[in-house]
Amino acid sequence: MSISAISWSDGRLKLLDQTRLPREEVWLTLGDHGQVAEAIRSMRVRGAPAIGVAAAYGVALAAANSSTPERDALLAELRTAAGELASTRPTAVNLSWALERVMSAVEAMPDVEGARRVALEEAQRIHREDVQANRELGRLGAALVPDQATILTHCNTGALATAGYGTALGVVRAAVEQGKRPRVVATETRPQLQGARLTTWELAKEGIDCTLIVDSAAGALMRRGDIDLVIVGADRIAANGDTANKIGTYPLALLAREHNLPFYIAAPISTIDLSISTGDGIPIEERAPEEVTALGAAEGVSVANPAFDVTPHRLISSIVTERGIVRPPYQSNLMGLDRAVVEGGVR
Ligand code: MRU
Repeated sequence: MSISAISWSDGRLKLLDQTRLPREEVWLTLGDHGQVAEAIRSMRVRGAPAIGVAAAYGVALAAANSSTPERDALLAELRTAAGELASTRPTAVNLSWALERVMSAVEAMPDVEGARRVALEEAQRIHREDVQANRELGRLGAALVPDQATILTHCNTGALATAGYGTALGVVRAAVEQGKRPRVVATETRPQLQGARLTTWELAKEGIDCTLIVDSAAGALMRRGDIDLVIVGADRIAANGDTANKIGTYPLALLAREHNLPFYIAAPISTIDLSISTGDGIPIEERAPEEVTALGAAEGVSVANPAFDVTPHRLISSIVTERGIVRPPYQSNLMGLDRAVVEGGVR
């Protein structure tokens, strides 16, 4: 069993604080949606599917904490809570997608008790389904991994970034489960070091071979033939296949193209946003300058700190989802996946 960083017990949301890994394993107990919003904003929970699951539980907490006997008043409170949660991190569509699912379930109920009950039930369903989706996309994606392949990955896309198992790291896990012997090269992932802190920690726990590199070493390793393929996750995939993911993904895709290496995206369909036609429409989160200057910089220097970039679809070999491996042309092939599931979201 892979680790799980999100759980629900005794009417509270429990999160493994990812800002403190790998130094210490500290579990947070959250009792209201404001605490959940803070945990998402400050990246105590992070990764597109994981923040969607956490936000869904945030609405369940808001419902449980409300004392109003009026259905309409409860719905108004929950819409405000959902809006607050949705605004924490704008790029990952899984966040608004999960909130929309919970709100639709709540709005379908005729009374307050039913609304409170289904808010939690829907959050728990989203939680369960994400693990299943990851296992399935991992199983399918493992077919793309030759035995003993060296796989370069970026950021953290494992059990920590999801409800469990992982997306790009889920593909690695599934390859191992299928008896293959992949090796992982993990980029540090400046400035928050999700690769150095989280991917190495997860893979060490699983006994999967992992080598850590600084982000700028990727080209050198590819040039000397040390990488066989690249697999990364996604925060939002536009209708034409353009994909937003952790800053630094786009240069990896360019390097992979230059070195004739396959460049794969692994993501559940909850990450696909058909309402956005190209990557130009994806909102990109800009984070605090201190994240960049923390290691040392001239006083008062101006900083750009986009947390994500967009990889154009022409650089992507395939997109692995739980419904199948999607190949170009993405416009029509993504549309062919279940539309009812990939549309919608609180924006
Ligand atoms: O800023 P983060 O750490 O939330 O960014 C995470 C990523 O970019 C992941 O690659 C993406 O969310 C997919 S995780 C399965």
